[in-house]
Amino acid sequence: MALALESLIGLCRVLSGGVHGSGSPLLARKLVMTIEVEQPSVELSKVAVSETHGEDSPYFAGWKAYDEDPYHESSNPSGVIQMGLAENQVSFDLLEEYLKHHPREASWGKGASGFRENALFQDYHGLQSFRNAMASFMEQVRGERAKFDPDRVVLTAGATAANELLTFILANPGDALLVPTPYYPGFDRDLRWRTGVNIVPVHCDSSNNFQVTPKALDAAYSKAEAMNIKVRGVLITNPSNPLGATIQRSVLGEILDFVTRKNIHLVSDEIYSGSAFSSTEFVSIAEVLEARDYKDSERVHIVYSLSKDLGLPGFRVGTIYSYNDKVVTTARRMSSFTLISSQTQQLLASMLSDKSFTQNYIKTNRERLKKRYQAIIEGLRNAGIDCLEGNAGLFCWMNLSPLLEKPTRECELDLWNTILQKVKLNISPGSSCHCSEPGWFRVCFANMSEQTLEVALTRIHQFMEGRKTNGGNLNF
Ligand SMILES: Cc1ncc(COP(=O)(O)O)c(C=O)c1O
Repeated sequence: MALALESLIGLCRVLSGGVHGSGSPLLARKLVMTIEVEQPSVELSKVAVSETHGEDSPYFAGWKAYDEDPYHESSNPSGVIQMGLAENQVSFDLLEEYLKHHPREASWGKGASGFRENALFQDYHGLQSFRNAMASFMEQVRGERAKFDPDRVVLTAGATAANELLTFILANPGDALLVPTPYYPGFDRDLRWRTGVNIVPVHCDSSNNFQVTPKALDAAYSKAEAMNIKVRGVLITNPSNPLGATIQRSVLGEILDFVTRKNIHLVSDEIYSGSAFSSTEFVSIAEVLEARDYKDSERVHIVYSLSKDLGLPGFRVGTIYSYNDKVVTTARRMSSFTLISSQTQQLLASMLSDKSFTQNYIKTNRERLKKRYQAIIEGLRNAGIDCLEGNAGLFCWMNLSPLLEKPTRECELDLWNTILQKVKLNISPGSSCHCSEPGWFRVCFANMSEQTLEVALTRIHQFMEGRKTNGGNLNF
């Protein structure tokens, strides 16, 4: 029986811990069993059989290669190093330290009564204490330059759910959102798959460091119109994944003017806001609205999550912050499908209300990410590789276009495959982020130790040297 690549990737993601959370052996066994069964003839829904989840991209295929041969310093030193996972482990010790000193928060809170409180009914508003703490943490991350009302905070299981919920609320099946490229590959799943909404790319390129321009927005809008597709909004990611750079205030102003002119929505995914290397380099759309006295704010919605800034993707904690009352009410109702467990909310309410902890965490985390970023940029430069100048996030945007035989997607994927098979590094090709210029790659640096990063840089250096002599063949 033919085994679809898709099933393989699905299986691999479950075995390896997947996009979210740790892998379950039980689930893995079930999947293996499912694969052994003949393809049933009974039909499934259009959503179930749709290809729009986008999981057949090299972004996920690279994870499979890593899973089959994961690098380990002593037990598998020639294995694949995972540089395709935007996970933040650089400040994990600070979280562990907090828990060590706050054992009550780390367990059930107030013993048996805490257990009862957590276990019994939770309404979909979530805990007031946690919404207050989230709003205040979002303000802190923005250097207190923006205000957030806890009553507008809608809790969701991660930014994944937040982005999907918003898409359900803002657009009908067949409508479109404009999304600047390159963009996070998961958007293909989150915005399109179950909602039936289209993504129309706003093509950005290296001539202006991939910044969004009114011209590019207009071109994407006209393209959608020509295809008879109704555009409902623009979704930006600030700071950008995969660029690792913030969007300038003036550009945010132009985007806001564009959505106002077209009378459509603006979603700003600010999941990496606390991972900008300095607070002042990041401007939230909330600050732009404040400066405009909240004019036109009813079309603006912010997405946030603790997966990146706090490094807690397994906890599944996200939020929609909308300036539109109807969107807040509807999102809250819809959040019933994707709530955060009370226990998680209790723990994080305590942690994020502890101002001395959060201040130290935000500052230290920024400093450590910046140090990592500088180390990788310098290592790559020494190997003769340039990167886009970044100031945020858990990755850099590396330019390998001079290495391509021809400037095509095929040549980019050939190079990606060589790096995976010979250099044993899993990086993400720009084409999986819908980048229109071949040769760019996203390289993550915060999901590993400094030592592992050094090994990765040494391998890249050897690869570049080896290319000059023996076509890039490497022996570890
Ligand atoms: C831009 C962006 N949005 C959303 C997500 C999903 O985050 P979460 O783990 O909170 O669902 C990611 C994760 O990589 C991301 O990079």
